[in-house]
Amino acid sequence: MTIAMMSQHEEDDTTRDKQKIWQELQQLASEFATFSLAASFKENPQRARQLSLQSCGLFFDYSKSLVNEDVMQTLVELAEACHLPKRIEALLYGEKVNATENRPALHTALRNNGLGLSELDRQKVDNMFAQMERIVTAVLSKEWRGYSGLPITDVVNIGIGGSDLGPFMACRALQPYVNNQIKTHFISNVDAAHVCQILKHLHPSNTLIIVSSKSFGTLETLTNAQVAKDWCLRFGMKESDLAKHFIAVTSNVNKAVEFGINKENILPMWDWVGGRYSLWSAIGLPIALNTSMETFKRLLQGASEMDQHFLNAPLDKNMPVIHGLLAVWYRTFMDEQAQLIIPYEHNLRKFPAFLQQLEMESNGKSVDQQGNSLDFHTMGVLFGEAGTNTQHSFHQCLHQGTKFFPVDFIISTNDSYGMKDQHDLLFANCLSQSKALMMGKDLQEVSEEMRQQGYDEKEIERLAPHKVIPGNRPSTTLVLDKLTPERLGALTALYEHKVYVQSVIWDINAFDQWGVELGKTMSSEILEAIQDEEKRQQQDQSTNMLLNYYLENTNLSH
Ligand code: F6P
Repeated sequence: MTIAMMSQHEEDDTTRDKQKIWQELQQLASEFATFSLAASFKENPQRARQLSLQSCGLFFDYSKSLVNEDVMQTLVELAEACHLPKRIEALLYGEKVNATENRPALHTALRNNGLGLSELDRQKVDNMFAQMERIVTAVLSKEWRGYSGLPITDVVNIGIGGSDLGPFMACRALQPYVNNQIKTHFISNVDAAHVCQILKHLHPSNTLIIVSSKSFGTLETLTNAQVAKDWCLRFGMKESDLAKHFIAVTSNVNKAVEFGINKENILPMWDWVGGRYSLWSAIGLPIALNTSMETFKRLLQGASEMDQHFLNAPLDKNMPVIHGLLAVWYRTFMDEQAQLIIPYEHNLRKFPAFLQQLEMESNGKSVDQQGNSLDFHTMGVLFGEAGTNTQHSFHQCLHQGTKFFPVDFIISTNDSYGMKDQHDLLFANCLSQSKALMMGKDLQEVSEEMRQQGYDEKEIERLAPHKVIPGNRPSTTLVLDKLTPERLGALTALYEHKVYVQSVIWDINAFDQWGVELGKTMSSEILEAIQDEEKRQQQDQSTNMLLNYYLENTNLSH
């Protein structure tokens, strides 16, 4: 059921309940200035156990969050007032949760045997996976040959946003599972540096190019695809050979055929899978080619396990629900300015970039489902990199900056390289950061420590204030047993559902992205203005000035 379908009476009760609980949370937040994380553990020896969850091979410790029992209970009440269980069912069973585009968001159907789809669409999905499997089998068995008879050794994915970030992240995360035949490369930026640097090291004869674009209308992707096509032809490939080297993944078959890709090399996409939620679809072809179709299916299996947990676990024991409620608590009630993702896992180094699109393109909204402007903050900035590197870049700001930034640490209990000492050091570093954020070090502790180190009182008075660490800064720690395909699937689905939980509490649409349309339209207009003096004059002062500066100072011939 969606809000739109609720009776007026039900809606009034819901609104009233929600408003009352919302005010309670505002009140709780205003009283939180004196809350001490360290003290809360001393007062409650069970806190760590009570504020941690385990499911799908993931252990989620959220006990270092800036919450107490009242806050957690009230957040769960807010979720109930928002009819979250019904909204979770609506998502998974194919309700039109994407109201502005009047369509469901059924990325979950791709990993749950078509759950929520009509029989016809379910058949289409089965056919797509079968086509995907045929391509993977043909390439990996070396039955698929290029124009000069060589097998494929390199796969180049040309796409951007959800047609790049998901498969790119997964290919790097599953490095321990790659086969020894295919290397994957990802071209996304329209900056010529990207396509030139990738193609420079490849030869068309053993390269397979996947043009991934749901719309087949994204200028960056089409431009790079044309460069790749010209590159093939320059090496002597005939137009008729292109079929051996080009595949398209798109919902716009006609435009892919128009570009010159054979129909049997086009894998379908559907409008009920959003770009940032599409790595489970044929957009995930590079993942299967880089590892195996069986590994790709294990990835989907892991996500499916998280879907079942999301659908069936009680709200207060539901990992995506708790994760999403904490994000709402920080963002809307505790005036958090940014959310950090720090995987202590080199192979998850692309995960923060993937989550930037997933979280910020889903929930970077400022009107509710009814189109009313919001009077509270929704999604802010999400960023992150892999630890331990981040300790040597932005952790200073996390520890001694004027604002707190909630951090999600992600780590595994097992690595894929069998190097125990290295992993012990990684694990110790991860836990040290979340502990230091929580405990800090006050002036008295710093001064005493300096005294022990032999500093005189004058030096201590001068230096100690600079060495104080405020502490009381929140983090969660998500521990995987190992970064396997299943756990990567569960982890990714966890964040997809966390994002959805936030959108339900905020009553916003997580599945459209109208905000990116204006930039696309303007870039086409400004491109024309580069070529046309009159159109340049019609631009605003700054754009006109910058265009003229470009034309006066470029060595590129126009
Ligand atoms: O950023 C806007 C957007 O539409 C994303 O939602 C999408 O993932 C990306 O551009 C690429 O779109 P397409 O797959 O249609 O090329």
